[in-house]
Amino acid sequence: MKIGILTGGGDAPGLNGVIESATKFLNKNGADVIGIMDGFEGVFNLNTITLDSYKVDGAYQTAGTILGTSNKRGIGDDAEEFIEKFNQLGLDGLIAAGGDGTFKALGEVASKVNILGIPKTIDNDLAGTDMTFGHYTACSLISKSIATLKHSANAHKRVMILETMGRTAGWLALNGGRAGYSDAILIPEKELNFKELVSYCKSKLSEGKRGLVICTSEGVKYNGKTSVKKIVEGAPEKERLGGISEILAQALEEELSIECRNVILGHLQRSEPPEIFDKLFSMELGSKAAELALSGEWNKGLAYKNCGIKAVNLKEFSAPPRLIEQQNNGVEQAKHLGIFM
Ligand code: F6P
Repeated sequence: MKIGILTGGGDAPGLNGVIESATKFLNKNGADVIGIMDGFEGVFNLNTITLDSYKVDGAYQTAGTILGTSNKRGIGDDAEEFIEKFNQLGLDGLIAAGGDGTFKALGEVASKVNILGIPKTIDNDLAGTDMTFGHYTACSLISKSIATLKHSANAHKRVMILETMGRTAGWLALNGGRAGYSDAILIPEKELNFKELVSYCKSKLSEGKRGLVICTSEGVKYNGKTSVKKIVEGAPEKERLGGISEILAQALEEELSIECRNVILGHLQRSEPPEIFDKLFSMELGSKAAELALSGEWNKGLAYKNCGIKAVNLKEFSAPPRLIEQQNNGVEQAKHLGIFM
């Protein structure tokens, strides 16, 4: 049996854990493993490497992906070429770890080739699963950054606004912001009432707080507008968000008596080595995918539901992003702690 592994979309801590565990599991059970380079591009360019238990040993500890990735190339209108190249590679099946772009692409060829999908995104917003690996490692950095920024905010009597990734979903800001006891957390799912934010900051400062830290998601709107930083032509999702923290810092500074500064955490959120939860989670996902491949159970995706990993229909991951619902426990709890939401 010859199985291919690829990683697609933005990187996330844990991708190498999926590669290492799947390769070791498959090798141990007699299957050969081929690593496909740079996401779907590697299939189209027939750019592959041979993987084995020795080559992947220890990869799980590192961020990024030893196979490279790309969020610029899906399959689109090239499904026939993809299938032809897939067959040229002599693969019995493919294990692909990726986000919504990858799953959309997989859906285009799933009836013609053997595929298993492993959901991945630090944003934690993929439909069909309650959690994706990489998210909590990214949240850990966000929480540490908030705690660190509090020192400078207090020293200088400033408002520091930390911007997280997350696109249209606020999970990174909500979970990272709560773990860092941020003074305010702004998420795209809740329309920003700027006046209320100003009065909250004023009241905290008048109570004697020297500085404040606000954690905002990149997808938050100011005056009804998101801040788009870049358009990536050819990408399944073209708009890249970024810069809302700078806009908010300027607007807040006009209303408050103290300076307001912003920090964009950016790709650092994807670049930390996976923490223990993501090491175990990615190991379990890679192992489960290998187990399914060996028993010939194809065209499924691995969802995390009710505290366990389940193989479900690939289509479940193609629905619109999983956003924070109005009655979310984390949001309610943050409000009870006096965090502005
Ligand atoms: O989807 C993951 C993500 O990290 C988003 O949170 C972010 O908006 C986007 O990818 C950034 O993509 P790029 O690597 O193209 O800048």
